Amino acid sequence: MSQIPADIERVLLTEDQIQKRVGELAAQISRDYASVDNLVMIGVLKGAFMFLSDLARRLEIPRSVDFIAVTSYGKSAHSSGEVRFIMDLREPTMGKHVLLVEDIVDSGHTLAYLHHTLQGRHPASLRTAALVRKSRRSMDVHLDYLGFEIPDVWVVGYGLDYADQYRTLPYIAELKKSAYEKPGR
Ligand code: IMP
Ligand code: MG
Repeated sequence: MSQIPADIERVLLTEDQIQKRVGELAAQISRDYASVDNLVMIGVLKGAFMFLSDLARRLEIPRSVDFIAVTSYGKSAHSSGEVRFIMDLREPTMGKHVLLVEDIVDSGHTLAYLHHTLQGRHPASLRTAALVRKSRRSMDVHLDYLGFEIPDVWVVGYGLDYADQYRTLPYIAELKKSAYEKPGR
């Protein structure tokens, strides 16, 4: 493994653990959608780009990808609970089988908001996948596919960021509290 950045507290999920689990999820999704020929995987930018690309490559069924971008955090590590729409999909989803792919579910606001929004566009079906879910949850949103449950700490890597840093690490790691609780920030 290449050098671990100084602001990392500890690695929670190694590259091997993530890749193995993504393979299992891909096999499960391929089975569940075996009879579907118009699956659209919708990645939630930016965080889900890595999970979506690994997952999409391993599916054994016809699929296309599209992206949507929202934000709820700004540079703070604390959610406002408010979801802001930044970029919509390129293609219409009406009548298609939609799999919404998220990096992480924390409070659940983002997923609930996106689920509600996409449901209103009348897809043939709508399911949700997330690589990780934190133990603390204010909303009980339904996840059809989940990679891992993790403790309620700020994590980075494998698409996940803090202030747009650390996204390209191949593992998921806990960020040191001192890195995001700097006074005056
Ligand atoms: P929720 O709306 O509170 O569920 O938050 C979901 C969004 O917040 C995710 O899509 C991430 O973009 C971001 N987020 C939540 N927790 C973390 C974290 O620990 N690291 C990086 N991003 C996070
Ligand atoms: Mg996200």
